[in-house]
Amino acid sequence: MRVTVIGSGYVGLVSGACFADFGHQVACIDSDERKIEALNKAIVPIYEPGLDELVERNLSAGRLTFSTELAPAVREADVVMIAVGTPSRRGNGHADLTFVMEAARQIAGALEGFTVVVNKSTVPVGAGDDVERVMRETNPDADLAVASNPEFLREGSAIDDFKRPDRIVVGVEDPRARAAMEALYRPLYLNVAPLVFTDRRSAELIKYASNAFLATKITFINEIADLCEKVGANVQEVARGIGLDNRIGPKFLHAGPGFGGSCFPKDTRALALTAQEYGSPVRIVETVIAVNEARRDALAGRVIAACGGSVAGKRIGLLGLAFKPNTDDMREAPALALVPALEAAGAVVSAYDPEATEQARSHLPNVIYAGHAYEALDGAHALVLLTEWDQFRALDLARVRQLLREPIVVDLRNVYAREEMQRHGFVYHGIGRPR
Ligand code: UGA
Repeated sequence: MRVTVIGSGYVGLVSGACFADFGHQVACIDSDERKIEALNKAIVPIYEPGLDELVERNLSAGRLTFSTELAPAVREADVVMIAVGTPSRRGNGHADLTFVMEAARQIAGALEGFTVVVNKSTVPVGAGDDVERVMRETNPDADLAVASNPEFLREGSAIDDFKRPDRIVVGVEDPRARAAMEALYRPLYLNVAPLVFTDRRSAELIKYASNAFLATKITFINEIADLCEKVGANVQEVARGIGLDNRIGPKFLHAGPGFGGSCFPKDTRALALTAQEYGSPVRIVETVIAVNEARRDALAGRVIAACGGSVAGKRIGLLGLAFKPNTDDMREAPALALVPALEAAGAVVSAYDPEATEQARSHLPNVIYAGHAYEALDGAHALVLLTEWDQFRALDLARVRQLLREPIVVDLRNVYAREEMQRHGFVYHGIGRPR
């Protein structure tokens, strides 16, 4: 099949490279000339494990091309995917559809023959109708069907998530479009994943409801963790005990600093707003948003309390800045709340992140950026672990103990064992674990 993907951001690039790897002929289009120039040399602008290799392999095999020219690639395509950004609109929490609608107009002007136009960007319920309307207005003769095909991949494990999804959701009713989508996903759904066909609005809502449910699960266990601290229980034991119930499931029950990233905060806000506008508020999601924000605002308080009530004049050694491991993404990262609050309380923060330092610099200009974990901890009054990169899991604790000025460890991801930390002489503070 010939697939054209509009937008070479996270979702567009990973989807394009994976479809090419399955053997489809894929053209990736982006208006950013420098990005396209780099991609044509197999230089990938984002950090995502395995993506460089995938792009390189398919580029050199000729199955994957990169261009700024939308029209010729759309003309030849059986399926055109819209995978442009839908950021939160400034001033309100709605998804901004400017890029989606602009792509729709340009695609409509270039279509030839029957084409399935697929929305992969996360768009509010009803956006597929708007895309279809705009396309038919732009080109009344076009033979097209507009489908919704939300993407569920996670940053840091994007390729594996794309190639081995739990399900593929396609919202479209036109039988020709259905057949095209079946052909597109045949490499996956025959052996790997169920292909769920539904109507377009349901598909759009499945994406938001999935993210909101996962954000709710995280927020639930975070509040249970706080309760554990009060009653002397252990949240990891509680999570294991409830997660073994198949109806609940073990995933997304890791207590921590609160969810961040480019999706959960934005998508929960957008869903809550849409629901309010339809007069059917999802109060549970509104609460999740508020609880998560409050949690992030309270992070510095945790560190300050662990440091004996003040961090004035102290140095905090921070491990991890990205919103999660295996990404350089700083969007809505808990570090963006924690670091300024610690600095406002008089602390100096020295930090190390394996990939996100460059992204972090512009947001957190006063941080002292270290070249490795031990450098960040040298002379610090406390170690604060914020992002659970694998390389932080097996630190040389004797060395850490020597480097730290005071033996305080605040583990916001529960990666260390209390007994081991205590054996090395640390005063250890986890999340929702007994003292
Ligand atoms: C999320 C969803 O998991 C994907 O299915 C979805 O496709 C994506 O959003 C999207 O809409 O594009 P992502 O934001 O990349 O993916 O990362 P997650 O692994 O879901 O983590 C999100 C946040 O939740 C992170 O801040 C992470 O630290 C936090 N988290 C996750 C927890 O605090 N506890 C957990 O148990 C799991």
